[in-house]
Order: sequence, then C-alpha cells, then structure tokens
Amino acid sequence: MTQTLTLRRPDDWHLHLRDGAMMEGVLPSSAAHFARAIIMPNLVPPVVTGDDAAAYRDRILAALPEGADFEPLMTLYLTETTDPDDVRSAAACGLVKAVKLYPAGATTNSASGVRDFDKVRGVLEAMAEIGLPLCVHGEVTRPEIDIFDREAVFIDEVLDPLRRATPGLRVVMEHITTSDAAEYAAGAGDDLGATITVQHLMLDRNDMLVGGIRPHYYCLPILKRGTHRARLVEAATSGDPRYFIGTDSAPHVTDTKEAACGCAGCFTAPVALSCLAEVFDEVDALDKMEGFTSLHGPAFYGLEPNETMITLERGEPVHPPSQLETGAGPVTVFDPNRALHWRVR
Ligand code: DOR
Ligand code: ZN
Repeated sequence: MTQTLTLRRPDDWHLHLRDGAMMEGVLPSSAAHFARAIIMPNLVPPVVTGDDAAAYRDRILAALPEGADFEPLMTLYLTETTDPDDVRSAAACGLVKAVKLYPAGATTNSASGVRDFDKVRGVLEAMAEIGLPLCVHGEVTRPEIDIFDREAVFIDEVLDPLRRATPGLRVVMEHITTSDAAEYAAGAGDDLGATITVQHLMLDRNDMLVGGIRPHYYCLPILKRGTHRARLVEAATSGDPRYFIGTDSAPHVTDTKEAACGCAGCFTAPVALSCLAEVFDEVDALDKMEGFTSLHGPAFYGLEPNETMITLERGEPVHPPSQLETGAGPVTVFDPNRALHWRVR
C-alpha cells in the first residue's frame, strides 16, 4: 500500500538563488516544489536598494521555466548606509517582504553587513513601525568566540538587546542550530519566528567530521552536537507556529566546496521536502508537517497560505541525483546519507 501525504503547497522562507547561469540552473528545483520563497540578497554586489531588488526580481521571473508557479519574495541587504525611506517605499509597494541582517564577516558575501548597530537604528525603527520583518543571521563574528558558540553568544549579546531596544520589530531567527535558539524562540511572543534548515534537522557535527571530512555538510551556522539537533527536531515537529521551514539551500559549484578552503552551504532544494517527510515520519509527526512547511511561515509574514496542494508518497528508498549540471558548473545535491523513502509525486 502506498502511503501518501497531501499538503498545501510549501513556501521556502530562506533561499539562495544566486544570479546568472547559477540561478537559471537551480531555480527550477525550488519552483517545482515551493510556491514562494524569501530570496536572500547576498549577491556580489548585494541587493541593497529597492531598485536593486526590483531588477533582481525581474531576472528571477525571466529565468523561470515555462508554466512555473513561483513567486520570489524579495529582501534587502541591510548595510550601515541603508536609507530608511527607500526601505519604506520598497515595502509599501509590496516589492520587499523583509530586510536581511548579516553581521559583517559572518558568512558568504557578508562583508557589507553591519558592524555598528547604532548606524542601523533608524532603519530598524522604520521597520518596526511598518511591520516589515528583519531576517537575522544570528552569529557573532569576534575571532575569540568559538565557532560552535557563535549563535548562543549572539542571542545574549546582540539579538536580545536589539529586540528590547526596538519594540514592535518583527524578527526571524534564521536557520537556528542550537537548543539555546529554540528555547529563546519558544519563550518569545508572536513578533518572533525561527526558520530551521533540512540539514540541521538531519545531521550533527559527527556526520560532518567522523570518518573523514564531508565538505557538502559544511554550512553556516555550522552543524552542532546531536543534542541540539534533537531539540530542533522537537521544535519543528511540535506544531508551534513560531517554527517554519527555511531551507537555506545555498548552491556552490562542487569544486569550490571540495577545496582546501571550501565554501559554506548545502544545496538542498531538490530534496528538501523528501528529507523533511523522512524527519517528520521518523518521530511519527507527519500530521505536523503541513504547519511547518505551509502554514506557519505565511501566518508570520501576514500572507495567505497557498491554495494549491502537493502530494508526497512513501515507497522504496530513492537516491537523488548526486549532481545538478548548471551553466556555472556542477552543483552537488545534498545527500543526507540515509535512504529517502518519500518523494514528491
Ligand atoms: O552556509 C551558508 N551558506 N550559510 C550562509 O549563511 C550563507 C550561505 C551562502 O550564501 O552560501
Ligand atoms: Zn542563508
């Protein structure tokens, strides 16, 4: 007997599409399964102004496969010189759905990010006023802070003070990786959301490092110990509306990951839903999956859930294709190193 799972069509609340040939190569994978996605602005140069976002959105729409039903939800990259009025007008016309905060130096293409939070106070206050969410890459970057502690320290030193200083600011803690972050989100009000990636629900740091280093599991924030992964699975499968999917699918061509100094990011878009069904099935929580993939995110962003449906079916384990060929070069598809029984029909 085939077991099936029918959900409202999911959205991806954190996605890297890149630009040019890479975007053309990876976009169909997201558009096949997700109706909408929050598009990360960490291009080179970054998507900073409303005009940048409009031009980037047009390039994405032009690259969509014929007949695809996919809406890119644009974001602006917050810099110390971002103009609050530009943010207001980009939000007012519906173009921009969030602003992205990268602490300078935290991750891929974050050099234009924020060093001095006093310099972005005016933008944050404008965003609180108009209800525009701030998506936060939550890691401190001070060299003396251990990479495995950077998220927990960020919550205490940056996130909590920033939220207290800006009442009403809606914040998404992106790609949370620790029980510290899950606890912080659980204790917050409905002005806080938290996204969780596929890889942080499936893997811990042993998967990345024991028996050989696996560069395709290297992402930021880095995979943590197994107890953190267990707390994230509990959060994602709890039905709590504060948690929703943000794949952080982040393509890099294979030889830039399989390198002496490899890039951070897992390309999960083609297998994200199969992987999630595996995770929810394993803890007997398939009934909670639709909330996580399709309902909690729209509710946080004040959007309607999608009307159309998607069906997954459980069958013999399938092995996803290992590489996606793009015009920019081959990209290795995330392999969770275990059988995937679920696939999108
Ligand atoms: O692993 C990551 N890759 N984390 C990020 O925050 C950025 C992303 C990328 O753009 O490659
Ligand atoms: Zn990201």
